[in-house]
Amino acid sequence: MKGFVVPLLAVGVLACAAPLLAAQKLGEVQPLRAPDQIYAKTCGYCHGRNVGPIILGRALPAESIKYIVRHGQNGMPAFRPTEVKPSELDALATWIEKSTARSGDHGQ
Ligand code: HEC
Repeated sequence: MKGFVVPLLAVGVLACAAPLLAAQKLGEVQPLRAPDQIYAKTCGYCHGRNVGPIILGRALPAESIKYIVRHGQNGMPAFRPTEVKPSELDALATWIEKSTARSGDHGQ
């Protein structure tokens, strides 16, 4: 009996670990994403699409952008450092502050 249970457990553990192994490994360093990529994937989901206010081309101060991203504000969710890394956020906030308006953008 024992000889049967142990391999069965091993298979079970491997099956559970498989999705984890396919994803990010613990301690693995992910490359930094460019600001326009993060904006397009994360912020642009709401901003410029009627869900949030337009934030490009308004010269919003980088410091207040960083604060709002980390703390959230009303309908805006907060993002943790595991979601947007500190160095990514620095670059993103400066990029947004210096950005020019996009003609297709719609505000809230
Ligand atoms: C789920 C939708 C959503 C996502 C995703 C989102 N926001 Fe927002 N954001 C909002 C909403 C809604 C507001 C307006 C909050 C309020 O009414 O006070 C807002 C407000 C803001 C403001 C303040 C704008 C102003 O006029 O003062 C900034 C800056 C901002 N968001 C930056 C970002 C950045 C940078 C990202 C990406 C990392 C992001 N947001 C992702 C919904 C979102």
